[in-house]
Amino acid sequence: MLAYNLIGSSLVALGALSIATMRARANWGSSALDRTTGAQEAVSERAPSPENDGWYHQHGDPSVVELGGSMGPRLIIVSNRVAVPEPGSKQMAGGLVVAVKAALRNRTGVWFGWSGKIDETETAEPRTIERNHITYAVIDLSKNDFEEYYNGLANRVLWPILHYRVDLQEYSRADHSGYMRVNRLFADKLSAFLREDDVIWVHDYHLMPLARELRIRGRLNPIGFFLHIPCAPLDILRTLPHHDEILGALTDYDLVGFQTENDRDNFAAYLSTAPGVKKGRGLTFEVEGRQTRIGAFPVSIETATYARLARKAARSPFAKEIRESLTGLRLVLGVDRLDYSKGIVQRINAFDRFLEVNPEWRSRVTLLQIAPRSRSAIIDYAAIENEVTTLIGRVNGRYGEAFWTPIRYINRFHSRTALSGIYRAADVALITPLRDGMNIVAKEYVAAQDPENPGVLVLSQFAGAAAELTGALIVNPHECDAVAAALKRALGMPLFERRERHGPMLEHLLVHDIDQWAESYLAALAETRQRPGLMSELRAFLSPSRSRTDRRATPEVRRQA
Ligand code: F6P
Repeated sequence: MLAYNLIGSSLVALGALSIATMRARANWGSSALDRTTGAQEAVSERAPSPENDGWYHQHGDPSVVELGGSMGPRLIIVSNRVAVPEPGSKQMAGGLVVAVKAALRNRTGVWFGWSGKIDETETAEPRTIERNHITYAVIDLSKNDFEEYYNGLANRVLWPILHYRVDLQEYSRADHSGYMRVNRLFADKLSAFLREDDVIWVHDYHLMPLARELRIRGRLNPIGFFLHIPCAPLDILRTLPHHDEILGALTDYDLVGFQTENDRDNFAAYLSTAPGVKKGRGLTFEVEGRQTRIGAFPVSIETATYARLARKAARSPFAKEIRESLTGLRLVLGVDRLDYSKGIVQRINAFDRFLEVNPEWRSRVTLLQIAPRSRSAIIDYAAIENEVTTLIGRVNGRYGEAFWTPIRYINRFHSRTALSGIYRAADVALITPLRDGMNIVAKEYVAAQDPENPGVLVLSQFAGAAAELTGALIVNPHECDAVAAALKRALGMPLFERRERHGPMLEHLLVHDIDQWAESYLAALAETRQRPGLMSELRAFLSPSRSRTDRRATPEVRRQA
């Protein structure tokens, strides 16, 4: 209780100092677009006032205030999609899900976001579900919101731009307004149950303006943001129309985290040229007296748990079936969401080249490409699916035999456990995105290997993971011959070299696992608000087991794996 009061009163003190600043900042970056579409008026309608604002509700709506526990600080995770575990259903395998769960482990918390459902009764209050000590609070979106916010600005504009594919962006003012509208909707729903000592952590490109919307509603809480996807260089970011309203709004967060130093530096370059932004000390930037810090926090996996899972899965009937189906063939594996950023077309071309120039490998190897469909309403996704299907048909037609299919292609979603067994069975993982924030498949593949007889990772230099997984064969996915040559080298690599490459990567991942990621981010978020001695309770809450960040891949830790 004492901790709760101390943290609460320190935030109020900090808050009082910065109310004026925040009111002023709320206008920074508002664009001509808002004024022309009327969205600006919508914003000012929501600006703090005794009638409508967040100030009166600083203690939250009494009906929902008890979410995630009635006492003490809560960690509020916000992401577009919320993965509510359904009893008996397959566990979702995505990186964001694993990351969020790690953040909520050992912390009192709520995970808030979109249910994944479309429903026109948008005004409904969030539905809450309690599972394994986590409170999930979800809202539905209307069809229009889904189209303009999710399919529209988030995935037809921000996704391609941030993946360096300016050519694919399809900007429209309607989608921009829809994106801002849904961010306001999230802010309204969230604001209703926020308490003054909550710490908020927002995830991914769907929700860049959320902190600004919360500040407009008078929320003074520490708010962090993490971008799971890449951040493109300055000139590319500037191709986003009205970028100041979206990217500029990131300065309302206390801490903005990126996957790699490269992403972080790209954003630093953007901020350095943004009007009204002053460079502070180190990695801090200042807008009208308020500070934002930026940093690189490479996302990771539950390494030890995953390694155990793979060991078990290797003994499962499913893994046995896979091995039997291979009838002695070597297995090369690709696992990606079906997305143009993943370089699947270039990979198939490289496999084609490999078979063309190495006829001795024909009938001795198969490429298993797992590619669950995604975002199918977007034309570029339908196009990539057609292209991949046609290409695979061509390669199979050209080299296949009645007894041998060069490429096995599957769109079905696989559970975490099933995937871990497949990773373990694969001699080579061919992970060659054209651009990827991190690519946790690469990390999972390393964790899933038998350390005594590991497979080889062939990894694109443009995946965030390449900065850490230096034991991989690093390739440029645009150079077909080089990828084909790397595949040949991987398939022929002697055991001692495979071990020599794999060992240090596994050690690295055992230390830099997902818990360490969450702890280091949250510790940094606490630091952004820290005044010596004042916020130590907040730090303690956000980092319940700081000592883990110092752990090494000791024999004990390795044994756990
Ligand atoms: O990694 C980026 C990301 O958008 C995550 O936020 C999400 O979990 C994943 O890709 C899948 O995307 P979607 O929710 O659009 O299917």
